[in-house]
Amino acid sequence: MRHRNINEVNKDWLKQVITSDSVIVDATAGNGHDTLFCAGIAKHVYAFDIQKEAIENAKIRTSDFSNITYVLDSHATLNQYIHTPIDGIIFNLGYLPTSDKSTITQAESTLTACNQALELLSSRGFMLITCYLGHPGGANEAAAVKQWIDTHFFAYQSYTYENVSLAPISYFIEKRHRILD
Ligand SMILES: C[S@@+](CC[C@H](N)C(=O)[O-])C[C@H]1O[C@@H](n2cnc3c(N)ncnc32)[C@H](O)[C@@H]1O
Repeated sequence: MRHRNINEVNKDWLKQVITSDSVIVDATAGNGHDTLFCAGIAKHVYAFDIQKEAIENAKIRTSDFSNITYVLDSHATLNQYIHTPIDGIIFNLGYLPTSDKSTITQAESTLTACNQALELLSSRGFMLITCYLGHPGGANEAAAVKQWIDTHFFAYQSYTYENVSLAPISYFIEKRHRILD
């Protein structure tokens, strides 16, 4: 069976929720594909990455845009850089495809960023988290993300490739579905 590419599904979700008034965080800028997509629709995009190479690649890819703030730092420090509400945040986890694959997102800092993002999100805000399972630590990170979602939300959407071993999985979450204490 032919599957819809997960990046296309992600884009469809994003197109439904990002407007020209939106402030979006790309928590893992990487080569800038997601930053570029968001910057083309949103008012402003914050793009984080811990790798200088990634930020440089993203800057080149998005050079036509002036609505992007690049942050060469971990997304776990999100709330040191952003002090006003955001409308959405995207995490494309894992490693930079063009690099040596040694710098990989880690469950602990990913969840720190998720917790900070949840507080910064506007009441209609969203999170889009794509987890990859094929690299060392990827399955553990994906399990931690799923557990975090189950703890904090009573509803979400997800997409993966059915019957494919170690397939990536995307979670689309809306803050209005947060479990309140
Ligand atoms: C799968 S790539 C992102 C792909 C990217 N969204 C794109 O469109 O090209 C994952 C990125 O996460 C970055 N990363 C790893 N740990 C991070 C952290 N703690 N904070 C921010 N970025 C991190 C890596 O350097 C890598 O560039």
